[in-house]
Amino acid sequence: SVPQLLRLPPSELKKHRKKNDAWMAFHNMVYNVTAYLPFHPGGEKELMRAAGRDGTKLFMETHSWVNINNMLDKCLVGFLIPEPDDNG
Ligand code: HEM
Repeated sequence: SVPQLLRLPPSELKKHRKKNDAWMAFHNMVYNVTAYLPFHPGGEKELMRAAGRDGTKLFMETHSWVNINNMLDKCLVGFLIPEPDDNG
């Protein structure tokens, strides 16, 4: 079956920044990395720097060659979208 993908603005992504509920965005794709944390070669602490936010810059600075798409396929939650503008 095809999982439902969410559309999340930064304010929603921010709600998932704990070790037992860690979501982060890379290249506008949002991943739940909770299960991957203990396996990150750079350590949990490093990876948690991107928890609840857009980690693209940190990721590109450390290992732009790593294929997230392939590694985190099963962790994909949805897409990062711009914050809705409530001023109309
Ligand atoms: C190392 C994956 C996010 C910091 C690595 C390596 C992989 C990996 C495969 C080993 C690379 C190699 O040896 O060539 C991932 C994945 C990420 C992610 C799948 C996204 C979920 C991050 C973030 C940071 C980070 C956001 C920084 C805040 C590091 C560091 C190393 C590393 C510093 C080097 C560790 C060392 O060589 O001692 N990561 N990483 N990673 N990662 Fe990540």
